[in-house]
Amino acid sequence: MSPTVPRHIAIIMDGNGRWAHARALPRVEGHKAGADSVREAVRTCREIGVEVLTLYGFSTENWRRPREEVETLMSLLHRYALEERRELLDQRIRVRVLGQPWRLPKIVQRALNDLCLSSAARPHAMTLNLALSYGGRSEIVDAARALAEDVRSSRLRPDEVDEAVFAARLQTAGQPDPDLLIRTSGEMRLSNFLLWQVAYSEIVVVDTLWPDFRRAHLLAAVEEYGRRSRRFGGVPGPSPEG
Ligand code: IPE
Ligand code: IPE
Ligand code: MG
Repeated sequence: MSPTVPRHIAIIMDGNGRWAHARALPRVEGHKAGADSVREAVRTCREIGVEVLTLYGFSTENWRRPREEVETLMSLLHRYALEERRELLDQRIRVRVLGQPWRLPKIVQRALNDLCLSSAARPHAMTLNLALSYGGRSEIVDAARALAEDVRSSRLRPDEVDEAVFAARLQTAGQPDPDLLIRTSGEMRLSNFLLWQVAYSEIVVVDTLWPDFRRAHLLAAVEEYGRRSRRFGGVPGPSPEG
């Protein structure tokens, strides 16, 4: 793997509604068009040797959207889990769901569960985290609650709680933090995505709307990442550890 390929890329896939609006189409058409971009992003990351790709598909706040839009998003998710199953397994991609899968419709839960279990049962070349009904704050609160339970039951002492112990209770436990965070459609905000994990991620915001985001855009973002000087609070050096 080239040193400039990020180990973990996280993407806030934004702009489906604006893409549809620009074509005088209903918002849901933007979500449908966005599915092709998902397939292309997964393929490209797998090809260039990314270890973890995390896609923000639906936030805890997105439940506030109109019912028909939420239903369309859920049915697209269901279709994605069924239609991409073969390719994901063939490509040795392990699928994980971050967030609150229990809030998703049962039929979606079953399809995702099958995908996660089937892909976990074999060796993998890349992990695909699907952040669904995901919120960074809620993930952090859950980790804090798990720690509190461990302390109450004397499995852990308060003075043993450090960053590593905390991170081990997050849903991304064991995975490297995102090196590169991409957000499409120009918005410069995190929208409750991976709040703990992006502490030192390089952020690339592109104006391209998610349904227009192709392989070349992803490769350009990776190139941009390669030009960044990562410091982690230290001084510029050849490597983060250097
Ligand atoms: C991203 O596109 C998809 C989801 C958040 C589910 P949006 O639906 O947020 O599109 P815009 O931001 O309204 O253009
Ligand atoms: C963030 O996009 C969530 C996803 C991309 C799934 P939003 O479109 O929901 O975020 P805001 O509302 O613009 O911050
Ligand atoms: Mg949006």
